[in-house]
Amino acid sequence: MTVAVVGSGYVGTTLAACLADLGHRVTAVDIDESVVETINAGSVPAHEPGLDELVETHAGDRLRATTRSDAVADADVVFLAVGTPSAPDGSVDVAPIADATRAAADALADVDDRRLVVVKSTVPPPEIDRLRSILDDRAGDAVELATNPEFLREGTAVDDFLSPDKLVFGTESAWATETLASVYDRLRDGERVPIVDVDPETAMMVKYANNAVLAAKVSLANEIGNVCKEFGLDAYAVLAAVGLDDRVSERFLRSGVGWGGSCFPKDLSALIAAADAEGYDAPLLRAAVEVNDRQPERLLSLLEAHGDVADDRIAVLGLAFKPGTDDVRNSRAIPVIRGLRARGADVVAYDPVATEPMRELLPEVTYADSAAAALDRADGAVVVTGWDEFAALDDAFDRMDRPVVVDGRRVIERRDGIVYEGLTWPA
Ligand code: UDX
Repeated sequence: MTVAVVGSGYVGTTLAACLADLGHRVTAVDIDESVVETINAGSVPAHEPGLDELVETHAGDRLRATTRSDAVADADVVFLAVGTPSAPDGSVDVAPIADATRAAADALADVDDRRLVVVKSTVPPPEIDRLRSILDDRAGDAVELATNPEFLREGTAVDDFLSPDKLVFGTESAWATETLASVYDRLRDGERVPIVDVDPETAMMVKYANNAVLAAKVSLANEIGNVCKEFGLDAYAVLAAVGLDDRVSERFLRSGVGWGGSCFPKDLSALIAAADAEGYDAPLLRAAVEVNDRQPERLLSLLEAHGDVADDRIAVLGLAFKPGTDDVRNSRAIPVIRGLRARGADVVAYDPVATEPMRELLPEVTYADSAAAALDRADGAVVVTGWDEFAALDDAFDRMDRPVVVDGRRVIERRDGIVYEGLTWPA
């Protein structure tokens, strides 16, 4: 098929490259000239394992990029994968997706054969109708709207795309469902992937609900973890047992300093704001966010229980929002560092890959080029990202002036010579 993907961020580029790999002819459309050049040169604008090879293989052949929005006129299916930034009140700024819909509608104004415009971006269900109206008003009658949310995780996006748990189609006709099914026809083990075929609004709600359930699950694990800590108990032992109940499952029960990234915080805020606009307060979703917001402070209060940190040198180990990525968006390291600085501490931070993005955000912090260098002469350390390399630091802790280590991800082994404190498990 001939497919266009509008927006070459992390979701759009993964989608475009993977669809080319499935055998489609794909045009990636982005307003940023440098992004377009990067893709056409066979490189990737974002760091994502496996994506480079796909783009390198297909660029100039089945995958080409352009800044021209009218390029979508040739496509059987147009995916809209532009960003959906948060407005200050947490709601979604729908201007970029509305603009992209308008541009696609104008490009498709004169087509006679049926075309599908598929919203990949995460848009609150009540806003879908606005996009539908834009298409109805500006595009030809043969153009139809669909939604098709994405459940990719950063760091495993290509594998998640090629081997999904489910495909969610938000369609308004059997033709649209069949068209989307043809797009995904050649997925790995494609015939085993369940297709959820619902209307466009419901499909988007599946995406919000999916992220809300996962984020709230982690927040519940964190709340139970905080209670365990108060009782002198190990939340990991408790929740491992709870996870054996297959109604619960053991996944997403790792308690610690909380969730970050580009999806959970944004999507929960957007869902709360959209529900609020309809007059519903969403207390449980708010609580999931509140627990998450408090975890960094709990980490810092455990550190402070071992002494005042003002004028102390404190090592922050891990800056990425999770291991395996250099993404620092909404990383828990941000409130941890700000909290330490507000207490007058001298912060020395380290991450194996995310130093530069964090330096852009927090330039005033000192960045070390190894964990050992960050720990050197430190009066305390906090672990914020669960990188494997932190499990093997051993002798590096001997370099600390005051070896107090508060572990927010359960990666450090207890050992002689350090004062070890777990966030949701006993010292
Ligand atoms: C998430 C969703 O998983 C994905 O389906 C959606 O498309 C985008 O958002 P991602 O942001 O890449 O993906 O990260 P994920 O691996 O889900 O982790 C999210 C956050 O939760 C991370 O900060 C992680 O450290 C934290 N987390 C996860 C925990 O604290 N404990 C857990 O048990 C699991």
